[in-house]
Order: sequence, then C-alpha cells, then structure tokens
Amino acid sequence: MASTNTQRIDISPAQEQLPPVEPCTLVIFGGSGDLARRRLIPALYNLLLDGLLPTNYAVLGLGRTTMTDEEYRDTLRQGLQKFSRQALDEARWSAFSQHIFYLVGDNDAPETYASLKARAEEIERRFGLPGNRIFYLSIPPSSFAAVCEGLDKAGLAARPAPNRPYSRIIVEKPVGRDLASARAINEVTGRVFDESQIFRIDHYLGKETVQNLMVVRFANSLFEPIWNHKYVDHVQITVSEAEGVGTRATYYEEAGALRDMIQNHLLQLLCLVAMEPPYSLDPDVVRNAKMEVLRCLRPITTKDVEKFTVRAQYTEGTAHGAPIPGYRREKGVKPDSTTETYVAVKCFVENWRWSRVPFYLRTGKALPSRASEVAVQFKEIPQILFNANAQAPQPPNVLALKIQPEEGLSLRIVSRVPGTRTQTHPVEMSFKYGEVFGRPSPEAYERLLLDVMVGDASRFMRRDAVEASWAWITQILEAWDKSGQRWLPEYQAGTWGPVEADRLIQNDGRTWRVL
Ligand code: BG6
Repeated sequence: MASTNTQRIDISPAQEQLPPVEPCTLVIFGGSGDLARRRLIPALYNLLLDGLLPTNYAVLGLGRTTMTDEEYRDTLRQGLQKFSRQALDEARWSAFSQHIFYLVGDNDAPETYASLKARAEEIERRFGLPGNRIFYLSIPPSSFAAVCEGLDKAGLAARPAPNRPYSRIIVEKPVGRDLASARAINEVTGRVFDESQIFRIDHYLGKETVQNLMVVRFANSLFEPIWNHKYVDHVQITVSEAEGVGTRATYYEEAGALRDMIQNHLLQLLCLVAMEPPYSLDPDVVRNAKMEVLRCLRPITTKDVEKFTVRAQYTEGTAHGAPIPGYRREKGVKPDSTTETYVAVKCFVENWRWSRVPFYLRTGKALPSRASEVAVQFKEIPQILFNANAQAPQPPNVLALKIQPEEGLSLRIVSRVPGTRTQTHPVEMSFKYGEVFGRPSPEAYERLLLDVMVGDASRFMRRDAVEASWAWITQILEAWDKSGQRWLPEYQAGTWGPVEADRLIQNDGRTWRVL
C-alpha cells in the first residue's frame, strides 16, 4: 500500500490557544492506587514539562496504606519512570515532587474529612493557593456516597458562586453496573455537587484521534456530504487489546467486556461518528448532539439478542510468543466464570441519516494486537467500467481513523497501476500524527485533567448520556440473562475472537477489517 503525507508541521504546545489555568489543589481519593501511579501523576508531570500546568499547584493523595509524603513520592517516581510519556528529568521531578503530599485515611470514615480539610488548608497556606479544589474519585463506587457526604459535611463541596474558589469532582468509571446503579451514583453525587461541578471521565474522549473525529467531519467539506445512508455501507468500531485481564480480575469478573468497554468507550466513539453537526462547540451543545444518537439506538431485546450480539471468553493461547492462560485460570477468576472477555455487537442508529446502516462494534482482551480504529466503509461503485468484472469487484473506499497504537487516518482508494495495461489496485493515503506534527500526542489523561482545571466539560460524560447508554446496555444484559444461552463461545488467546463473531458480520456479506 502506498502512502501520502503532507509536510511536517511543528507547533509547540506553548503556541496552543489555551484558557488560563488557575492555581489549584488536586485531591486524589485512591491516591495510593494504580491509576494515580500509572496515569494521573505521569499526566500532571507531562503537563508540567509542556508548560501547561498552572504555576502554582498541589497534589494531595489520600489512601489507606500508611506512608509518609517521602515514601509516597518515591512510589510515584517509580511509576513515572515506567509510565511517563516524556523521560524523567531529575531536576524537574525534584521540584514537582515538593508539591505532592499524602494523607492516610479511610474514605468511609467520617473523621477523614476533618483531617483532609486541615491538611488541604495547611498546604494551600504554604503555597499561597486560593482554595480551588479538584477531587478525583479513583475508588470503588461503593465509597462514592461516603466521600460526597464527607466532603459536604466538612464544607469542602461548595456550590459554584462568583468570586468563590471552585470545587470540582472527577468521577472515574465504572459509573454503575446497570441503569439502576448508575442512577444511584448520579443521585449521590448530584445531591452534593451541581452538574457543572461533576466531570465523569471517559479517557477515550481525551485521545487525539477521537477528538479528530469531529475535526475530520466538520472542518472538511469532503466527508460530511457523503456521511449518511446514501453513501456509507457500514461502520466498524474496534478496540482490540492484546493483554489478558492481568491483575484486575476482581473488578473485571463483575464487569465483563460489555460493561467495561462498550457501555462507555465504544458507544462514545459511535456517538462522535453518528451525531448531527452541533451548532457550536459549547460543551452542552456538543453533548446534546451526542445524546441524540444514544436516544436513536435501536434497542436489542431478548428476541434478537443472539442475532445482534456475540459474547465470548478467551482460552489458553499465546500472544507474541508468550503464553496466556485461559481466562478461567487467571488469578482471581472463578474456575466456572461466565464473564465475557469479548463482545461483538451489530446495532442501528434509527434516524434519517443512518437508516439501515449497520454499526459493528467489537472489543476483546487477549486478541492478537493492541489496535483500535473507527472505519467508515463506503458503498460499492456500480458494476461497470473498472468494476465490470463481477468475479473481482473493486474494493470499496474506507476511511479509517486509527486510535492506537499509532494515531492517524487513512483513506483507501483504488488507483491505476503504472504500465501499458489498465490494471487497478487499492492504495492508502495516510497520515500519522507523530510524523506530521513532529511531536507525540499528549496522553488522554493530560488533556482531560487540564480540561477539569479550566472547567471545560465537553469531553466528559453528562448525567443523561451515562444513563442513556446504561439503559441500552442494561437491556442487552437482561436479554443475555433471559436468553437461556447454555454455553459461552470461546476463542483462543492470541486470535481475533470467536467464529460466532465472524458469522455475525459475514451473514450480512461483510467481513471484519484486518488490523
Ligand atoms: C479501561 C478498561 O477503561 O480501558 C480496561 O477498564 C481497558 O479494561 C482500558 O484495558 C483500555 O484503555 P486504553 O487507553 O489502553 O485503550
């Protein structure tokens, strides 16, 4: 496949137009956990290196593990060495780490909140911080109520008012495990915080290509006129992961791929592909447009759940030469577990634009590679001229937005092969962010943390969207329960999922893209 590139463009982060970021304190509930070490602290550190962090800030991690500030900084430093996008610079780290603190506390114990308030105020006095606070809930949802009430009682959750420091709360997934539990979480957070203070994170919305979806659609004249049922044959959204469940079995056993990935990441991607043009980039206008898509999703009921969904679990296999145990033999997984590690869904957005266009979604763990993309396949051309041979049809045009591992975009077109005879061949016009813009994209959490600091909620999930996607997903979960399916299809780790998933798409005369 050939590739085309525009010339390399260098735009440094400092040239980006960003609103001013006010000094603030970030309090991380679950501060000693994996997310803080792997994603949050590396994200803040990279914002610092890129000159995007406010000049004055503090981070206070809260957790049950007993640790001093110094010990906490040490564990974070190790995390940075492993997970930071940009290399660890000792001098920068040393200055950065002086802004990081740790408090031992139990989220569920009311006395924690008085200590938290005292510690936050003491740190804020020391740095001359104005009292803007962001509370990051990187904890199980079962503790959300206690945290919100604790913050409220301690006077740490003031509603927004002019000339008053802000309080914002970031809610990590899972926001529930079905519609009822999602509503309960939203009730609890909504009792204490105004919707404008709540940032429900879906880190896929912070990924470069995901944001580029709107730009491709609405900053080019080429695509939007053909972005509808007249020209689009179908859409494929794939999020494939090479790793198995790893150390997260306790959570995953209760979740499974439908709840873990489709309910949030893949449905959000679908919304961005399918939504109508919003009339402005105002967060609520964009979120209204996405909400409309969720409202138009055709429900999948017990009657057709087997026709439109496939769930499966991985068995023992190998990936890149390394053995992967079967899911049921992973640490922390029940030997008779029926949790799905793979899901494929065929769905429809029932509106004028997308009438009868199938959207095929698939995601799974222990697949051959980490590869994610949104691919829009256009309809075939008429069977005349270069497509006259019915035995060898021309491959249709495909626009693929690559989310990972390399972020970019490619367009498949048919071209003439140079020579004396008329011969055609598909070629790919592609661009890769890293190559064209001369610098790697920031990690999703960098962008999203910065968004919270400036109070921009566009890339966060609004309450109604969370509940609408859970309503659709819960119907599938209930249909699975009622369908009486006696066995769960299997796929060998390191392969592209079960044969049932191939049949799901092949029955429509289509195939999954090879990634
Ligand atoms: C998380 C899921 O939301 O996303 C994980 O809980 C999954 O199970 C992860 O591995 C994938 O994120 P990314 O950014 O690595 O594609």
